[in-house]
Amino acid sequence: SPIPSCDIVVFGGTGDLAVRKLLPALYLRDRDGQLPEDTRIIAVSRAGLDDVGYRVKIHGELGQFLPADTYDATAAHTFARRLHHITLDVLDDRDPDAAWYDLAAAIPDSNRTRVFYLACAATLFGPICTGLHRSGLITAASRVVLEKPIGTDLASARRINDEVGAVFAEEQIFRIDHYLGKETVQNLLVLRFANAMFEPLWNSGAIDHVQITVSEALGVGGRTGYYENSGALRDMVQNHLLQLLCLVAMEPPARLDPEAVRNEKLKVLQALQPLHGAEVHRFTVRGRYTAGAIDGQPVPGYAEEMHGRPSGTETFAALKVEIRNWRWAGVPFYLRTGKRLDRTAAEIVVQFREVPHSVFPGIEDSELPPNQLVLRLQPDEGVHLRLVTKEPGPGGLRLRSAPLNLSFAETFRSRLPDAYERLLGDVMRGNPTLFMRRDEIEAAWSWIETILAAWSELDQAPRPYAAGSNGPAAAIALIERDGRTWHEEN
Ligand code: BG6
Repeated sequence: SPIPSCDIVVFGGTGDLAVRKLLPALYLRDRDGQLPEDTRIIAVSRAGLDDVGYRVKIHGELGQFLPADTYDATAAHTFARRLHHITLDVLDDRDPDAAWYDLAAAIPDSNRTRVFYLACAATLFGPICTGLHRSGLITAASRVVLEKPIGTDLASARRINDEVGAVFAEEQIFRIDHYLGKETVQNLLVLRFANAMFEPLWNSGAIDHVQITVSEALGVGGRTGYYENSGALRDMVQNHLLQLLCLVAMEPPARLDPEAVRNEKLKVLQALQPLHGAEVHRFTVRGRYTAGAIDGQPVPGYAEEMHGRPSGTETFAALKVEIRNWRWAGVPFYLRTGKRLDRTAAEIVVQFREVPHSVFPGIEDSELPPNQLVLRLQPDEGVHLRLVTKEPGPGGLRLRSAPLNLSFAETFRSRLPDAYERLLGDVMRGNPTLFMRRDEIEAAWSWIETILAAWSELDQAPRPYAAGSNGPAAAIALIERDGRTWHEEN
């Protein structure tokens, strides 16, 4: 369906997320002719800019954050004319009516769809929602988008959900997890449910284990304040990795509609085996990078970036997780994510069981490499299915594992849209299927919380790993002691 005319109000309009992700995504939708002519983008921040100042700033910065060959001067000029800026300190309660007046005046037409995108710290979600409500800005056609992380534990997530829920109905609340907007992630659903060959094998009878890896070469960059209070488990595992796990593990929904999909994901989260005390030490690893080199360039360690302040924050986490239900009992899911690793790559690997018996003389069962389905989220999005084939040629029978490859870029020859392009379109159209419901967020926190508690009780520094390596040795041991190895292909 076409996107309706919207007023998109971005709180945190000069922030990292808005400048690097949201505005480039909106520009691309605009350039591709998908934004109705009168759609406006109203940035809210404390920056004291007027419309012209903001347009100049964004026009100047846009090019840096766009994919290659997508900048077009005419399109950028048209896009800049949609931009407005309102200066507002949402915590300034001296004269709240006056403070919010300019924003109210900027969106006078209450019949238009309003999207309030909260691209700012979650501690501001409550004050912003209160301000919007008090100023009478929330209409039936309003939606609010909440960026992760929603809280730092279950109690704070509930508080934020209560504050937002006091003024917006659940159907109006879009909790974004941008991993759900990535092409390969949506394709996972299509692969599972539009092909007959996977689903009958999609269970503990045929699958040995699943690996989910999100590795980044980047460090924490300018976000030290946020990251220091977060760490890899809260920043990545609680949301992105658990959401990927849900999509791999969920039962087929009866229809691809928002409630059916989210009900199935919730059941997976509720079936995660809780990790307590000693299990946390056996089944999780936390790490933190020390100085090293990325692409031959020396980079400082996390502690140096934090100016040597003592810190318990992890920049790497690996976990072995089990889902306690009929489909998955006994199948480990190995998750890992970290910053300053040797490569930037995200993938899901579904490893099938070994064949029960080798019919090939001289080749043991265990020498036949098991089938693997690799879903690569980034870079080079695609799907690879590893099969065993005969090496061509005369002489003895030599077998080897070779991939059947589906590269999206080569097969479809079109630019793959960024996750935010897709998800912003869904918000404007009002489709919440790829957004998280309140109960999902809270179920994820309640599982994560016991791990956080065990970590803080243990009070042990995260294990060091050199920047540019593939993580702490203990993370390799976590999977190898089960007789398995991490998938490390480029
Ligand atoms: C964000 C995290 O949610 O995801 C960042 O806060 C992380 O720390 C980012 O770098 C990774 O996203 P992507 O799309 O670059 O893999």
